[in-house]
Amino acid sequence: MNDILPGEVETWQFLEAAARRVFSLHGFSEIRVPVVEKTELFCRSIGETTDIVEKEMYTFQDKGGNSLTLRPEGTASVMRALIEHKLYARDPLSKLFYLGPMFRHERPQKGRYRQFYQIGVEAVGVDDPSIDAQTLAMLNHFADEIGLRGLDLQLNSLGCPVCRPDYREQLLTFLQKRLDGLCDDCRRRYQTNPLRVLDCKVAGCREATHEAPAMLDYLCNDCDDHFSAVRGYLDGLGTPYFVNKRMVRGLDYYTKTTFELVTGQLGAQNAVAAGGRYDGLVKQLGGPELPGIGFAMGVERLFLLLDGSRCEAKKPDVFLAALGEKARREAFNRMHQLQRRGIRAEMEYQAKSLKAQMRRADKLGARFVLILGDDELTRGVAQLRDMADSSQREIELARLEEFFEPSPVIAAN
Ligand code: HAM
Repeated sequence: MNDILPGEVETWQFLEAAARRVFSLHGFSEIRVPVVEKTELFCRSIGETTDIVEKEMYTFQDKGGNSLTLRPEGTASVMRALIEHKLYARDPLSKLFYLGPMFRHERPQKGRYRQFYQIGVEAVGVDDPSIDAQTLAMLNHFADEIGLRGLDLQLNSLGCPVCRPDYREQLLTFLQKRLDGLCDDCRRRYQTNPLRVLDCKVAGCREATHEAPAMLDYLCNDCDDHFSAVRGYLDGLGTPYFVNKRMVRGLDYYTKTTFELVTGQLGAQNAVAAGGRYDGLVKQLGGPELPGIGFAMGVERLFLLLDGSRCEAKKPDVFLAALGEKARREAFNRMHQLQRRGIRAEMEYQAKSLKAQMRRADKLGARFVLILGDDELTRGVAQLRDMADSSQREIELARLEEFFEPSPVIAAN
């Protein structure tokens, strides 16, 4: 679990602001859900036999004896909220996004943490392939907006309850002949969740499943048409992608379209964003029969790719340096007035020499320094020093605000 320090947090804010901007352009609204839910919600949605549920959840009993879990992902919670508040009755298509921490007890490594942040979206209510393409196009738009380059969009289809059972049988037959070559985990997965075998990173398992049948070759007509239509929309938009027949996801709720946005720059943790369609999930959680699709991006991974280079801490517009007790009082009041006008103003809070105050202004990167002395105060003037070229001029304190550009006001919507 990481601390996000000043100097880094600005890049996070940049990513969050970009997500809010892009997603709202595409008609998505923010939803905020709790970080804990009943354990049962995740078992039922993510799947009892997934690594997340079997090994990675932070689960505890509360004082009332309920089993609660720190959310390992956002989709289950958002679906729970959608059902609880009947959001589908407001609009047949709910387009939602969320930002926040998720928790998985995984083995930490670069790009993989136990508390990590996701920015995610969910579009629930319509199963038309245009929604799949819209979701992918929005992901692409976001990547462009933040200046990410060189990412590959990988696409697959995981079928539906009509075609997957047949495929599962084919896969089981294939795996049965190769059980000896599989790791202990995969021999167990063979019994409980055979698709997960295809995602195992162990070299022996990869080799043994090299020629395994792929879901994509067993799609029913409906799933096949859906996949072709999604590809058609993406081709029309000129959005590049690769079909990756071997892609399976770590969560069981997926149907039809699945995808990952991958990078070659983060070692083993190559998925920057991932998601897909989950047409049975809302029903499975006790809601109406509503299809859905979404994705989540790992914010730490986006951060690593941007190399923290996009943003810097904000620097003061003006640093007020005061000489003398009366001047310090005046500087204090003026600083507060400027701040209320949207101007980033700073001062030295302890009585220090002018030299020490100038050093601090320089360290903070202040654009201007306003030097106030007791004598000048009686004339209502002060010295304004431009730190860019060290030029200095006398200004009237009454006209102080005219010299600075206020930051935009945060307006309520
Ligand atoms: P996921 O593939 O488990 O999907 O996670 C999505 C993304 O979260 C990953 O691609 C990765 O960038 C990031 N991530 C996951 N685990 C970690 C970790 N331990 N440390 C750092 N980053 C991590 C989901 O969570 C689905 N809920 C996505 C979705 C939304 N599907 C439909 N709607």
